[in-house]
Amino acid sequence: MARAGERTPPDDVEALNDDPSHDDETSAPRLFKGRPLESYTSLATNPYLSLHAELGRPAMTSEAAAACKGRWHEEFGREAPLHVEIGAGNGFFLSGMAARHPEFNWLGVEIRFKRVVLTARKLLKVQAEGWSRITRYDGNALPDLLRPGEVAGIYLNHPDPWPKRQQAHNRMICGDWLDMIATLLRPGGDLKVKTDHQLNVLALVKAMEGRPFTLVGRSDDVARDGAPWPDDVVTNYQRKFNERGLPVYALWLRRD
Ligand SMILES: C[S@@+](CC[C@H](N)C(=O)[O-])C[C@H]1O[C@@H](n2cnc3c(N)ncnc32)[C@H](O)[C@@H]1O
Repeated sequence: MARAGERTPPDDVEALNDDPSHDDETSAPRLFKGRPLESYTSLATNPYLSLHAELGRPAMTSEAAAACKGRWHEEFGREAPLHVEIGAGNGFFLSGMAARHPEFNWLGVEIRFKRVVLTARKLLKVQAEGWSRITRYDGNALPDLLRPGEVAGIYLNHPDPWPKRQQAHNRMICGDWLDMIATLLRPGGDLKVKTDHQLNVLALVKAMEGRPFTLVGRSDDVARDGAPWPDDVVTNYQRKFNERGLPVYALWLRRD
């Protein structure tokens, strides 16, 4: 039965491009004095960087995070499976999962300085600073931070949709990105993706072809059918789509 506000999603890529329902969801860079905010990387010009330093662990500078490549177990002071969230946003998911799974080491990467601060505060609130970190980094450049096979689980929740055809090159999920994920995940490691944009589902299923992954589970409506994996934390964007009665898709891939 259709839920309030439910749309019948188009099933071809051309119709999904230029889908106006995602127009307000993309984290397009905001400009300050003609430059993207993210290009202000000195303490004097970026107040959030000072906050990163003030907060200390679990917030880490990009440089400190890169120095942990291949030795995250030393950073956490223990050997435990390393789980990574790309684009942690406000930190609801990372803090929720870290609180539920203190037996894992957790790393979040987020491109926006302010969201790193918001996530660090949530990790502190759930007292997960012993086994979780958040750093400001580009989720397309994870090999800077992680050695091949170092990761047990990777989570991507609601990547920016970039709905316009001309913006398609900005979308994170593509064959090159999945090659990167295949390198970082240990055999048997999991990639779990939730998205509000059906194009991402089609892109991931297509990218899997010829790559070392097996589809473990999927859902075309997480609110209606549940997530395909046993435990899930609702993210900030997921909640917004739930409230609008729009479907959230989920895909669970395992590294062969
Ligand atoms: C649509 S929001 C989703 C936030 C959160 N995952 C959620 O589900 O509520 C996308 C997030 O990814 C971040 N992001 C976008 N591009 C990124 C990149 N290349 N590397 C890391 N984070 C990125 C954005 O800053 C934003 O916080």
